Amino acid sequence: MKAGKTSSHAMKLLVVGSGGREHALAWCLAKAQGLQKVFVAPGNAGTAGEHELENVPLTDIDALADFAQQQNVQLTVVGPEAPLAAGIVNVFRARGLRIFGPTKEAAQLESSKDFAKRFMARHQIPTARFQTFSEPAAAHAYVDQQGAPIVVKADGLAAGKGVVVAQNVTEAHAAIDRMLDNSSAGGRIVIEEFLEGEEASFMVMVDGKNVLPLASSQDHKRIGDGDSGPNTGGMGAYSPAPVVTPEVHARAMREIIMPTVRGMAADGIPYTGFLYAGLMVGKDGSVKTVEFNCRLGDPETQPIMMRLKSDLYTLLDHAVAGRLDEIEANWDRRVALGVVLAAADYPDTPRLGDVVIGLPKNQDDCRIFHAGTSERDGQLVTSGGRVFCVTTLSDNVKQAQKRAYDVIVGIHFDGMQYRRDIGHRALNR
Ligand code: AMP
Ligand code: GLY
Repeated sequence: MKAGKTSSHAMKLLVVGSGGREHALAWCLAKAQGLQKVFVAPGNAGTAGEHELENVPLTDIDALADFAQQQNVQLTVVGPEAPLAAGIVNVFRARGLRIFGPTKEAAQLESSKDFAKRFMARHQIPTARFQTFSEPAAAHAYVDQQGAPIVVKADGLAAGKGVVVAQNVTEAHAAIDRMLDNSSAGGRIVIEEFLEGEEASFMVMVDGKNVLPLASSQDHKRIGDGDSGPNTGGMGAYSPAPVVTPEVHARAMREIIMPTVRGMAADGIPYTGFLYAGLMVGKDGSVKTVEFNCRLGDPETQPIMMRLKSDLYTLLDHAVAGRLDEIEANWDRRVALGVVLAAADYPDTPRLGDVVIGLPKNQDDCRIFHAGTSERDGQLVTSGGRVFCVTTLSDNVKQAQKRAYDVIVGIHFDGMQYRRDIGHRALNR
């Protein structure tokens, strides 16, 4: 089953990014039929160490496009939001290069909270009630009128630091002062209603018109056990998420995903790429959109890729060809669970350069996806806030969790932090 212009031999692919998500994507793509090489730009020590993968030290968009052209790369897939928001898809397409991701315009669903909220209001997509402000006085008055809990969000991309869930109005006022003084946030904030319920990550592939849902998952955003402490990029994830029952899945598709894909097309900004809806699932089974991301989640991708039985390249190839309606994705029935090992002082000021020892060999049911790692004088060292995601596959959450923690005991770097309770929501159901 061939969708795009693909040759069956010596295929080269390119993954843009350097985190655990990109390691998992590249590892999955390396299983493609007739593959010669998966380039990862810039990659990490994990992608450097795998047989079919090769790191390329590039991050500049034009340089990446030059590289893809020179190497005859059949298809490029983009991990992080920053190159998407900067227009990597626009540049590649203008040069006739096949790439999977949203254009700069479509990526506004993530890069501008104000764009996303106005879009959802216009297309009746369920989300928290909100107002946008650029004047501090008006924002303060709104908070006084609404009361707490209330949520204050910076408008632009803020690498996970742009959201304050304020438990009282004092916190909300402080967040307004901080965000509206900070010109990097774009001088605009969104203030919205606090939503109650359980969060889940709902990700799909979109080809402009057709949608292929991926397996459900759930992240753990706080640094500490029991969901305590500051927000992070995500400290662990598992798939599937039991909170996404067949009914919740159907509602998310009907009330959020399909209206979004149709709405973007109707607004003249067709959406292509991975689309991530952060769901808030209410006790009554209702679903609301907490946020959109224009990419896959990290670390959610790691367990999801562990469960993917279909050929990822074939899915991406169909997506780029606008033929997602012709295929389905098959998933391992088992549970996959990933525990993030983070550096000392993550998320504030992660310490880099600690030597890693005791990393076990990968196995079919346990893979160590690298994120912030690099090699220094023949040693593996930490080079980012989130260092690894130890990802296991087992018959149930409890076993997958036990397997992950058994493996982690053998891994060491100074200051290593991780949560001991990844999967707690599924276990306590
Ligand atoms: P966001 O960057 O929009 O995903 O926000 C980060 C986190 O803040 C989310 O994962 C939620 O845990 C929380 N959050 C954001 N918006 C809301 C809301 N309206 N109600 C409750 N929690 C929220
Ligand atoms: N893990 C949440 C995210 O990737 O946004």
